[in-house]
Amino acid sequence: MPEVIIVPDQETAGNLVAGAILDLLGRKSDAVLGLATGSTPLPAYRTLASRAAADGLDLSRVRGFALDEYVGLPEGHPQSYKSVIRTEVTVPLNLTPSLVHVPSGDPETIQTAGDDFEQAITDAGGIDLQLLGIGTVGHIGFNEPGSSLSSLTRVKTLTMQTRRDNARFFGSLDEVPTQAITQGLGTILRSRHLVLMAFGEGKAGAIAGAVEGPVSAALPASVIQLHQRATVIVDEDAASRLAHTEYYRYAWANKPSWQSI
Ligand code: PGA
Repeated sequence: MPEVIIVPDQETAGNLVAGAILDLLGRKSDAVLGLATGSTPLPAYRTLASRAAADGLDLSRVRGFALDEYVGLPEGHPQSYKSVIRTEVTVPLNLTPSLVHVPSGDPETIQTAGDDFEQAITDAGGIDLQLLGIGTVGHIGFNEPGSSLSSLTRVKTLTMQTRRDNARFFGSLDEVPTQAITQGLGTILRSRHLVLMAFGEGKAGAIAGAVEGPVSAALPASVIQLHQRATVIVDEDAASRLAHTEYYRYAWANKPSWQSI
């Protein structure tokens, strides 16, 4: 069962996540971070950037692996996750660009890109902390409903719902690619700590299914229930369909001070 932390707002979530990452980097300055895109992790990245700058921290040894990438967007497309990770993460955190990896969505090499990415993660010694958002369909990464619970990095066809959800980042629905390459659910499970964030009413159903529903490929995020160390940070709206909020609040209020998230 994941730990569920209900917070009043995104800023509080961002502070908690940034704190967990800074704790990790205090123990391991070349830690391997699993990087999510989308709007959800942005408060965490912003807080991390400002705290690192304020404390004069050198993050140049941090290594990063993005969760996913669209297939077929031209090099340099502003909505490619390679571009988004550079703009939202690598540059503001002053990471070393060569240490930040995004799966390649180049159609020319797509057949081997998944295996290459898995090998790169293995070579780095695995991911220490994996940030996750969740889609309204219950995906993590781009593991759409029906994804194998043990899948590794590979190409998935996006659901129409995911394409509609992401159309806000593009000019129109037609411009949202049909396929993506994504870390698999098995890849995600290999990370040493999962931190999933969700905000807003639109995520409430997916969060309830992921945390309290049956573990099922029909709701891929439910696979986090199989992980030994998964933390779910949600605002009140995203928590609104959870059954056991009283217990989650009680457990968080009584958490021993020596335990980090
Ligand atoms: P969002 O996307 O953070 O933009 O809501 C999350 C996801 O689709 O995984």
